[in-house]
Amino acid sequence: MGVQAWQSRYDHRCQAMQEEALSEAVIDEKVSVDWQILQSRVKSCTACGLCKTRTQTVFGVGNQKAEWLIVGEAPGADEDLQGEPFVGKAGQLLNAMLFAIGLPRNQVYIANILKCRPPRNRDPAPDEIASCEEYLKQQVLLIQPKIILAVGRIAAQNLLKTDTPIGKMRGQKYTYGDSGIPVVVTYHPAYLLRSPREKRKAWIDLQRAQSVFACR
Ligand code: URA
Repeated sequence: MGVQAWQSRYDHRCQAMQEEALSEAVIDEKVSVDWQILQSRVKSCTACGLCKTRTQTVFGVGNQKAEWLIVGEAPGADEDLQGEPFVGKAGQLLNAMLFAIGLPRNQVYIANILKCRPPRNRDPAPDEIASCEEYLKQQVLLIQPKIILAVGRIAAQNLLKTDTPIGKMRGQKYTYGDSGIPVVVTYHPAYLLRSPREKRKAWIDLQRAQSVFACR
């Protein structure tokens, strides 16, 4: 009798645990299906003229459950060829910047405002940004990062819907849309390669991002 009672409580707990595990698995499965759908939509996107000049789309890379989302501008020549964001010289500097604050590249998620390379690396056009915006929004919803690091003027101004110069955005408190996710703005690594004396300011921004992340 006593053993039966023990067994039934045990079975009850077991069942609850199994149900919880199952519902987590269902959520995970749904999320991964959503990633697949989003990825294939981006891959076949023809919403703007960049689809005619790209080698391939550059969706994004990294940990789909990352706490840090890094957002850049658009693929360059190397990224267009390899299909991965920030793989050229600017990418190497970005990796070093992240590593300096204890974040190996594979721990974060890296994406761009545009998923296709603008010819000759020109600035993204407003219609291209508008066509691509939903993809990044969906990535943010799927990842649910704890912080977004916007690297460069194009990323910062478009994420935050402002035309404030990047120098004035540094050090300010921002959030992404109505998500409450903090956004920290810093210089683009390609700019830092051209203006190495500004690296000191980027280092200050990264340390600030670390403390924004810690105090969120
Ligand atoms: N610059 C960017 O903004 N993104 C990349 O992926 C590469 C260079």
